[in-house]
Amino acid sequence: MEQKFKRTNMCGDLRAADIGSEVVLNGWVAKERNLGALIFIDLRDTTGISQVVIKKETTPEIYNIAENIRSEYVLAVRGVVSERESKNPKMPTGDIEVIVTELKILDKANTPPIYVKDDDNASESMRLKYRYLDLRKESLQKNLKLRAKLAKVIRDFLYDNDFVEIETPFLTNPTPEGARDYLVPSRVNPNKFYALPQSPQQLKQILMVGGMDRYYQIVKCFRDEDLRANRQPEFTQVDIEMSFVDAEDVMDINEKLVCKMFKEIKGIDLPTPFGVMPYSEAMEKYGVDKPDLRFGFELKHLEEVFKNTEFGLFKTALEDGKIIKGFNIGDYETEFSRKKIDKLTDFVKDYGAKGLVWIKFHEGEMTSSISKFLTEENIAAIKGLFNIDNNGLVFVVADDFETTNASLGNLRIKIARDLDILNDEEYAITWVIDFPMFEYDEEEERYAAKHHPFTHPNIEDIDLLETAPEKCRAIAYDLVINGEEIGGGSIRINNSELQDRVFRALSLNEDDIQRKFGYFIEALSYGTPPHGGIAYGFDRLVMLFAGTNNIKDVIAFPKTQSATCLLTGAPSPVSDEQLKEIHVKKI
Ligand code: AMO
Repeated sequence: MEQKFKRTNMCGDLRAADIGSEVVLNGWVAKERNLGALIFIDLRDTTGISQVVIKKETTPEIYNIAENIRSEYVLAVRGVVSERESKNPKMPTGDIEVIVTELKILDKANTPPIYVKDDDNASESMRLKYRYLDLRKESLQKNLKLRAKLAKVIRDFLYDNDFVEIETPFLTNPTPEGARDYLVPSRVNPNKFYALPQSPQQLKQILMVGGMDRYYQIVKCFRDEDLRANRQPEFTQVDIEMSFVDAEDVMDINEKLVCKMFKEIKGIDLPTPFGVMPYSEAMEKYGVDKPDLRFGFELKHLEEVFKNTEFGLFKTALEDGKIIKGFNIGDYETEFSRKKIDKLTDFVKDYGAKGLVWIKFHEGEMTSSISKFLTEENIAAIKGLFNIDNNGLVFVVADDFETTNASLGNLRIKIARDLDILNDEEYAITWVIDFPMFEYDEEEERYAAKHHPFTHPNIEDIDLLETAPEKCRAIAYDLVINGEEIGGGSIRINNSELQDRVFRALSLNEDDIQRKFGYFIEALSYGTPPHGGIAYGFDRLVMLFAGTNNIKDVIAFPKTQSATCLLTGAPSPVSDEQLKEIHVKKI
């Protein structure tokens, strides 16, 4: 680029104090308006926008060029910073404009298929296809800068606390984290496959066996699983492992790390220590293992209230040993018409519930979907249990443990969101501990690891491994902020014999164990320090600080719900030759 067009200032930086100075700006045309004698251009770069003005009378040759300038052209302008006649208090540079004395078009642009404006209403698919235009928007630029800053805060903290940043391979063997693997065929080893890591779990444990003491990595993980607003097939973890520690040590240093993040990013001093809630309490009160503690609506058991009921659904539920639970949304009862409640019924059906019973109290008067079955006693008991005086709306589900909790737990959150009572600037943080080691997989008819199979059982529960695995708790901890699982970890098994017992509780036979984890168990047998760690969903941390519910807002090149990249077209077909080379047959 010619020296005279090298930028002297950034578009977002100019202020009244710069009036009178000659500057060179480089940037994109955010907007151009031709008023006849004058052409106004909003010139944008990563720092913001400056208004530049081309005057027909004083610079007719520049004016002629400028007449053909369109949105998203890339320009270099030289000019003098002047005071604006009509100032724009909404723009940081709104006091000034640059009167252009020289102009160069650095590149032309086709008419952009989406507007480069945050409120452009473009569909998500257009935004992802033209991500480079989308990325020019202020919100995405802000989020990606926030992401970079957060990574630096985390790196600085961990480096200062003697953690060593170590990379682990992407072409590796499967890690069981509950999703399907992305497999990569090996050309030079016919019929053999690498798996992209679902996490660096085993390798970070082996680093502890290798004496590295404190490890971390900000690392891509790959999981082929159903995608949601907070899940991507490739996402980033802040992955941490420490030797010679117990759960309290890991939680303690991680509280310090999280406090540092909040201080540096938000300027907030978090109160410590963070709350700690057993998994059983989270399920009991909130129906989910990642409770949002910013609001009440606590779930309560209603089996006792309805023990003599004639209402069929509740009656059979109780006969079948199922549970009945409900929660009260208090004074918000007026927000819910019948029609709205019907929609909520559809919502809980998605979680497997057969129906949603409601009992409404409005200025002392009661209406309900099951009013003819409600006895005076039932009503009094419900009012007592939920502290209802005059107003309230109670939602009730009767089903098995999982269905009742999942439907009510998620309904609780949906209602809070719909009512718009969740404050994004409030942070309710808790550890959830004492998870069950296993959950029963109905399809496979065997226990599966709730976290991963390397998690240490609670010391007092070890003997339950063989006798009552469903009662065995794990030394595991999740960090939950505002109802989002931000991170999770555990203390690991550090001897091969206990590891073997856990594998067996998972119904793995000797062959499976050797084939999948032989190398790992062998590593454990050469002197393994007690160790444990955690991994944060880095994208989710950025979402939290950026105040967005959509993970795509914090990733430069995210994938769609069906794991495709609309920009590059990945995944794409490959030639028959390529398939042959990697020993893969087309079907
Ligand atoms: P876990 O599977 O709980 O633990 O993952 C850790 C954190 O990663 C985030 N996360 C995701 N974020 C975006 N998209 C996804 N598909 C996705 N899946 C998970 C979550 C989660 O809390 N090896 C263990 C950690 C350990 O034990 O140290 C692990 O991977 O925020």
